[in-house]
Amino acid sequence: MRRLIATLLLVLAPQLALANEGGLKLLKADVDLNDTASLQRGAKMFVNYCGSCHSAAYMRYNRVGADLGIPEEVLKTNLMFTTDKVGEPMRAAMPVADSQEWFGVTPPDLSVVARSRGEDWLFSYLNGFYSDASKSTGVNNLYFPSAAMPHVLWELQGVNRAVFNTHTNPEGVQTQVFEKFENEIPGTLDEAQYRRATRDLVSFMVYMGEPAKLVRYALGVKVIGFLFIFFVAAYLLKREYWKDVN
Ligand code: HEC
Repeated sequence: MRRLIATLLLVLAPQLALANEGGLKLLKADVDLNDTASLQRGAKMFVNYCGSCHSAAYMRYNRVGADLGIPEEVLKTNLMFTTDKVGEPMRAAMPVADSQEWFGVTPPDLSVVARSRGEDWLFSYLNGFYSDASKSTGVNNLYFPSAAMPHVLWELQGVNRAVFNTHTNPEGVQTQVFEKFENEIPGTLDEAQYRRATRDLVSFMVYMGEPAKLVRYALGVKVIGFLFIFFVAAYLLKREYWKDVN
Protein backbone atom coordinates (compact mmCIF):
# COMPACT_ATOMS: atom_id res chain seq x y z
CA MET A 1 0.00 0.00 0.00
CA ARG A 2 2.76 2.40 0.98
CA ARG A 3 4.52 1.63 -2.28
CA LEU A 4 1.37 2.36 -4.21
CA ILE A 5 1.06 5.76 -2.57
CA ALA A 6 4.75 6.49 -3.21
CA THR A 7 4.35 5.58 -6.90
CA LEU A 8 1.22 7.69 -7.18
CA LEU A 9 3.03 10.66 -5.66
CA LEU A 10 5.90 10.20 -8.09
CA VAL A 11 3.52 10.16 -11.03
CA LEU A 12 1.59 13.17 -9.77
CA ALA A 13 4.59 15.25 -8.68
CA PRO A 14 5.20 16.98 -12.04
CA GLN A 15 1.50 17.89 -12.33
CA LEU A 16 1.48 19.32 -8.83
CA ALA A 17 4.62 21.29 -9.56
CA LEU A 18 3.10 22.65 -12.77
CA ALA A 19 -0.12 23.63 -11.03
CA ASN A 20 1.94 25.66 -8.60
CA GLU A 21 4.11 27.40 -11.14
CA GLY A 22 4.65 30.99 -10.06
CA GLY A 23 2.00 30.57 -7.40
CA LEU A 24 -0.54 31.71 -9.97
CA LYS A 25 -3.63 29.59 -10.43
CA LEU A 26 -5.23 29.31 -13.87
CA LEU A 27 -8.87 30.25 -14.23
CA LYS A 28 -11.21 27.42 -15.18
CA ALA A 29 -12.49 27.63 -18.75
CA ASP A 30 -15.28 25.02 -18.31
CA VAL A 31 -15.59 24.47 -22.04
CA ASP A 32 -18.70 22.61 -23.21
CA LEU A 33 -18.30 21.33 -26.76
CA ASN A 34 -21.95 20.24 -26.86
CA ASP A 35 -23.02 23.87 -26.66
CA THR A 36 -23.21 24.65 -30.39
CA ALA A 37 -24.51 28.20 -29.86
CA SER A 38 -21.44 28.98 -27.77
CA LEU A 39 -19.13 27.54 -30.45
CA GLN A 40 -20.88 29.66 -33.10
CA ARG A 41 -20.44 32.82 -31.02
CA GLY A 42 -16.80 31.83 -30.48
CA ALA A 43 -16.23 31.39 -34.21
CA LYS A 44 -17.66 34.84 -34.87
CA MET A 45 -15.41 36.38 -32.23
CA PHE A 46 -12.41 34.56 -33.60
CA VAL A 47 -12.78 35.88 -37.14
CA ASN A 48 -13.65 39.38 -35.94
CA TYR A 49 -11.00 39.88 -33.28
CA CYS A 50 -8.20 37.38 -33.97
CA GLY A 51 -8.26 36.57 -37.67
CA SER A 52 -6.65 39.85 -38.65
CA CYS A 53 -3.34 38.76 -37.14
CA HIS A 54 -3.63 35.02 -36.52
CA SER A 55 -4.29 32.28 -39.02
CA ALA A 56 -5.89 28.93 -38.28
CA ALA A 57 -4.49 27.30 -41.37
CA TYR A 58 -5.52 23.75 -40.46
CA MET A 59 -9.15 24.74 -40.41
CA ARG A 60 -11.34 25.25 -43.46
CA TYR A 61 -14.38 27.52 -43.43
CA ASN A 62 -16.73 24.89 -44.82
CA ARG A 63 -15.68 22.44 -42.10
CA VAL A 64 -16.55 25.04 -39.45
CA GLY A 65 -19.87 25.60 -41.22
CA ALA A 66 -20.71 21.91 -41.40
CA ASP A 67 -19.62 21.09 -37.83
CA LEU A 68 -21.31 24.06 -36.20
CA GLY A 69 -24.45 24.08 -38.34
CA ILE A 70 -23.78 27.46 -39.99
CA PRO A 71 -25.39 27.84 -43.45
CA GLU A 72 -23.05 28.75 -46.29
CA GLU A 73 -24.59 32.20 -46.84
CA VAL A 74 -24.19 33.16 -43.18
CA LEU A 75 -20.67 31.74 -43.28
CA LYS A 76 -19.78 33.87 -46.28
CA THR A 77 -21.21 37.16 -45.03
CA ASN A 78 -20.38 36.88 -41.32
CA LEU A 79 -17.29 34.77 -40.96
CA MET A 80 -15.20 34.99 -44.09
CA PHE A 81 -13.13 38.12 -44.49
CA THR A 82 -9.95 36.84 -46.11
CA THR A 83 -11.44 34.79 -48.97
CA ASP A 84 -14.76 34.06 -50.65
CA LYS A 85 -14.13 30.37 -51.27
CA VAL A 86 -15.63 28.19 -48.55
CA GLY A 87 -13.04 25.46 -49.07
CA GLU A 88 -10.16 27.76 -48.13
CA PRO A 89 -8.26 27.52 -44.84
CA MET A 90 -8.61 30.36 -42.32
CA ARG A 91 -5.71 32.60 -43.21
CA ALA A 92 -4.69 35.76 -41.38
CA ALA A 93 -5.57 39.05 -43.03
CA MET A 94 -2.19 40.56 -42.15
CA PRO A 95 0.87 39.68 -44.24
CA VAL A 96 3.59 37.92 -42.22
CA ALA A 97 6.22 40.56 -43.06
CA ASP A 98 4.04 43.35 -41.62
CA SER A 99 3.34 41.55 -38.36
CA GLN A 100 7.04 40.80 -38.01
CA GLU A 101 7.78 44.49 -38.33
CA TRP A 102 4.99 45.69 -36.02
CA PHE A 103 5.25 43.16 -33.21
CA GLY A 104 8.79 41.83 -33.64
CA VAL A 105 7.24 38.37 -33.77
CA THR A 106 4.77 36.73 -36.13
CA PRO A 107 1.47 35.95 -34.41
CA PRO A 108 1.46 32.14 -34.27
CA ASP A 109 -1.10 29.98 -36.06
CA LEU A 110 -3.89 29.21 -33.60
CA SER A 111 -5.29 25.98 -35.11
CA VAL A 112 -3.99 23.73 -32.36
CA VAL A 113 -3.10 26.27 -29.67
CA ALA A 114 -5.73 24.79 -27.35
CA ARG A 115 -3.76 21.57 -27.34
CA SER A 116 -0.35 23.14 -26.77
CA ARG A 117 -1.44 25.67 -24.14
CA GLY A 118 -4.57 24.07 -22.72
CA GLU A 119 -8.03 25.59 -22.46
CA ASP A 120 -7.57 26.98 -18.93
CA TRP A 121 -4.38 28.78 -19.94
CA LEU A 122 -6.10 30.35 -22.97
CA PHE A 123 -9.03 31.47 -20.86
CA SER A 124 -6.69 32.90 -18.21
CA TYR A 125 -4.59 34.62 -20.88
CA LEU A 126 -7.62 36.38 -22.40
CA ASN A 127 -8.64 37.46 -18.89
CA GLY A 128 -5.12 38.34 -17.81
CA PHE A 129 -4.34 41.64 -19.56
CA TYR A 130 -3.60 44.70 -17.42
CA SER A 131 -2.30 48.18 -18.14
CA ASP A 132 1.47 48.60 -18.06
CA ALA A 133 2.88 51.86 -19.38
CA SER A 134 6.37 50.37 -19.72
CA LYS A 135 5.23 48.15 -22.62
CA SER A 136 4.89 49.34 -26.19
CA THR A 137 1.39 47.83 -26.38
CA GLY A 138 0.43 49.62 -23.15
CA VAL A 139 -0.51 46.30 -21.56
CA ASN A 140 1.08 43.29 -19.97
CA ASN A 141 -0.32 39.85 -19.27
CA LEU A 142 -0.36 38.02 -15.97
CA TYR A 143 -0.08 34.60 -17.57
CA PHE A 144 2.21 35.54 -20.46
CA PRO A 145 4.52 38.25 -19.12
CA SER A 146 5.75 40.67 -21.79
CA ALA A 147 3.59 39.14 -24.53
CA ALA A 148 3.90 41.11 -27.77
CA MET A 149 0.16 40.89 -28.36
CA PRO A 150 -1.96 43.96 -27.66
CA HIS A 151 -5.16 43.58 -25.61
CA VAL A 152 -7.35 43.28 -28.69
CA LEU A 153 -10.53 42.76 -26.64
CA TRP A 154 -10.04 45.89 -24.52
CA GLU A 155 -13.16 47.56 -25.89
CA LEU A 156 -15.19 44.64 -24.57
CA GLN A 157 -13.40 44.12 -21.27
CA GLY A 158 -12.17 47.62 -20.57
CA VAL A 159 -8.75 48.07 -19.02
CA ASN A 160 -7.69 46.60 -15.69
CA ARG A 161 -4.98 47.65 -13.31
CA ALA A 162 -3.14 44.86 -11.48
CA VAL A 163 -2.47 45.14 -7.76
CA PHE A 164 0.65 43.31 -6.59
CA ASN A 165 1.81 42.68 -3.03
CA THR A 166 5.45 42.47 -2.12
CA HIS A 167 6.24 39.27 -0.25
CA THR A 168 9.53 38.76 1.55
CA ASN A 169 10.59 35.20 2.26
CA PRO A 170 12.71 34.24 5.34
CA GLU A 171 15.90 34.68 3.30
CA GLY A 172 14.96 38.25 2.56
CA VAL A 173 14.19 37.70 -1.12
CA GLN A 174 11.34 39.87 -2.31
CA THR A 175 8.77 38.73 -4.86
CA GLN A 176 5.79 40.48 -6.36
CA VAL A 177 2.67 38.46 -5.79
CA PHE A 178 -0.47 39.23 -7.77
CA GLU A 179 -3.41 40.14 -5.60
CA LYS A 180 -6.29 41.37 -7.74
CA PHE A 181 -7.41 43.34 -10.75
CA GLU A 182 -9.10 46.71 -10.43
CA ASN A 183 -11.08 48.15 -13.28
CA GLU A 184 -9.54 51.35 -14.68
CA ILE A 185 -11.62 51.93 -17.80
CA PRO A 186 -14.93 50.08 -18.12
CA GLY A 187 -15.63 48.13 -21.30
CA THR A 188 -18.87 47.50 -23.14
CA LEU A 189 -19.30 44.17 -21.31
CA ASP A 190 -19.45 43.61 -17.57
CA GLU A 191 -17.18 41.03 -15.98
CA ALA A 192 -19.57 38.09 -16.26
CA GLN A 193 -20.38 38.91 -19.89
CA TYR A 194 -16.70 39.20 -20.75
CA ARG A 195 -16.00 35.85 -19.14
CA ARG A 196 -18.82 34.31 -21.13
CA ALA A 197 -17.52 35.84 -24.36
CA THR A 198 -13.96 34.62 -23.75
CA ARG A 199 -15.29 31.20 -22.76
CA ASP A 200 -17.10 31.04 -26.14
CA LEU A 201 -13.87 32.01 -27.89
CA VAL A 202 -11.80 29.40 -26.02
CA SER A 203 -14.47 26.78 -26.75
CA PHE A 204 -14.11 27.52 -30.43
CA MET A 205 -10.33 27.16 -30.19
CA VAL A 206 -10.72 23.84 -28.36
CA TYR A 207 -13.06 22.64 -31.10
CA MET A 208 -10.54 23.83 -33.71
CA GLY A 209 -7.73 21.93 -32.01
CA GLU A 210 -9.58 18.69 -32.55
CA PRO A 211 -12.70 18.99 -34.72
CA ALA A 212 -13.08 15.20 -34.71
CA LYS A 213 -14.07 15.44 -31.05
CA LEU A 214 -17.54 16.58 -32.05
CA VAL A 215 -17.90 13.60 -34.37
CA ARG A 216 -16.60 11.31 -31.65
CA TYR A 217 -19.05 12.64 -29.07
CA ALA A 218 -21.96 11.97 -31.40
CA LEU A 219 -20.61 8.52 -32.26
CA GLY A 220 -20.02 7.73 -28.57
CA VAL A 221 -23.70 8.18 -27.74
CA LYS A 222 -24.70 5.89 -30.62
CA VAL A 223 -22.16 3.23 -29.61
CA ILE A 224 -23.36 3.23 -25.98
CA GLY A 225 -26.95 3.00 -27.26
CA PHE A 226 -26.07 0.06 -29.47
CA LEU A 227 -24.19 -1.70 -26.65
CA PHE A 228 -27.18 -1.26 -24.37
CA ILE A 229 -29.63 -2.76 -26.85
CA PHE A 230 -27.14 -5.53 -27.61
CA PHE A 231 -26.79 -6.25 -23.91
CA VAL A 232 -30.53 -6.63 -23.46
CA ALA A 233 -30.78 -8.91 -26.51
CA ALA A 234 -27.80 -11.01 -25.37
CA TYR A 235 -29.24 -11.31 -21.89
CA LEU A 236 -32.65 -12.47 -23.16
CA LEU A 237 -30.94 -14.95 -25.46
CA LYS A 238 -28.84 -16.28 -22.62
CA ARG A 239 -31.97 -16.78 -20.48
CA GLU A 240 -33.62 -18.61 -23.34
CA TYR A 241 -30.65 -20.97 -23.87
CA TRP A 242 -30.09 -21.73 -20.20
CA LYS A 243 -33.76 -22.33 -19.46
CA ASP A 244 -33.51 -26.00 -20.45
CA VAL A 245 -30.08 -26.58 -18.92
CA ASN A 246 -31.05 -25.51 -15.41
C1 HEC B 1 -2.88 42.87 -33.58
C2 HEC B 1 -2.49 41.53 -33.87
C3 HEC B 1 -3.11 40.43 -33.00
C4 HEC B 1 -4.43 40.17 -32.82
C5 HEC B 1 -5.62 40.88 -33.43
C6 HEC B 1 -4.50 39.01 -31.96
N1 HEC B 1 -3.25 38.59 -31.62
FE1 HEC B 1 -2.77 36.98 -30.50
N2 HEC B 1 -0.82 37.36 -30.74
C7 HEC B 1 -0.29 38.41 -31.44
C8 HEC B 1 1.16 38.38 -31.34
C9 HEC B 1 2.13 39.36 -31.99
C10 HEC B 1 1.48 37.26 -30.54
C11 HEC B 1 2.86 36.77 -30.13
C12 HEC B 1 3.10 37.16 -28.70
C13 HEC B 1 4.49 36.80 -28.21
O1 HEC B 1 4.98 35.73 -28.55
O2 HEC B 1 5.05 37.63 -27.46
C14 HEC B 1 0.21 36.64 -30.17
C15 HEC B 1 0.10 35.52 -29.37
C16 HEC B 1 -1.09 34.89 -29.06
C17 HEC B 1 -1.20 33.69 -28.26
C18 HEC B 1 -0.07 32.91 -27.63
C19 HEC B 1 0.31 31.77 -28.54
C20 HEC B 1 1.40 30.96 -27.94
O3 HEC B 1 1.19 29.77 -27.72
O4 HEC B 1 2.48 31.53 -27.70
C21 HEC B 1 -2.52 33.38 -28.18
C22 HEC B 1 -3.16 32.20 -27.48
C23 HEC B 1 -3.24 34.40 -28.90
N3 HEC B 1 -2.33 35.30 -29.43
C24 HEC B 1 -4.61 34.43 -29.03
C25 HEC B 1 -5.30 35.45 -29.67
C26 HEC B 1 -6.73 35.52 -29.71
C27 HEC B 1 -7.68 34.50 -29.11
C28 HEC B 1 -7.04 36.62 -30.41
C29 HEC B 1 -8.41 37.18 -30.69
C30 HEC B 1 -9.16 37.59 -29.54
C31 HEC B 1 -5.78 37.28 -30.80
N4 HEC B 1 -4.75 36.52 -30.32
C32 HEC B 1 -5.70 38.44 -31.54
C33 HEC B 1 -0.99 39.36 -32.16
C34 HEC B 1 -2.36 39.44 -32.24
